[in-house]
Amino acid sequence: LASVEVDVSSLTPGMSLIVKWRGKPVVVRNRTEQEMKDGETVNLADLKDPIARNANLPADAPATDANRTTPGKEAWMVMVQVCTHLGCIPLGQEGDFGGWFCPCHGSQYDTAGRIRKGPAPENMAVPVFKFISDTKILIG
Ligand code: FES
Repeated sequence: LASVEVDVSSLTPGMSLIVKWRGKPVVVRNRTEQEMKDGETVNLADLKDPIARNANLPADAPATDANRTTPGKEAWMVMVQVCTHLGCIPLGQEGDFGGWFCPCHGSQYDTAGRIRKGPAPENMAVPVFKFISDTKILIG
């Protein structure tokens, strides 16, 4: 399917679900206050990949926490959960940065899915998506 509609009404803060979109797993996570705070307080100079990698934004948008989400819905991460190193599936809410940890070669991503440590070169990709209602997201 080119697009996928996802009902997120059951996701309270701290909960995620994974849907398949164009053959890839896409995680939808309702982040906790702490996860958002952790993402927002990161010094951009510390990022390995300074680009947002958000298909909804210009290609050179910086990788701020807000630019990894969508305006007005900054708690929500919608992201292709595929490691940018060699394509393994990282585990959620693991690793030193409280985000995602790739068991294949140890790449560590933060709570906004930005690469922080390990061999992966880029932040995990944010696909084209939008909220079509308060509880529904359209991916693609
Ligand atoms: Fe994830 Fe290598 S595939 S670290």
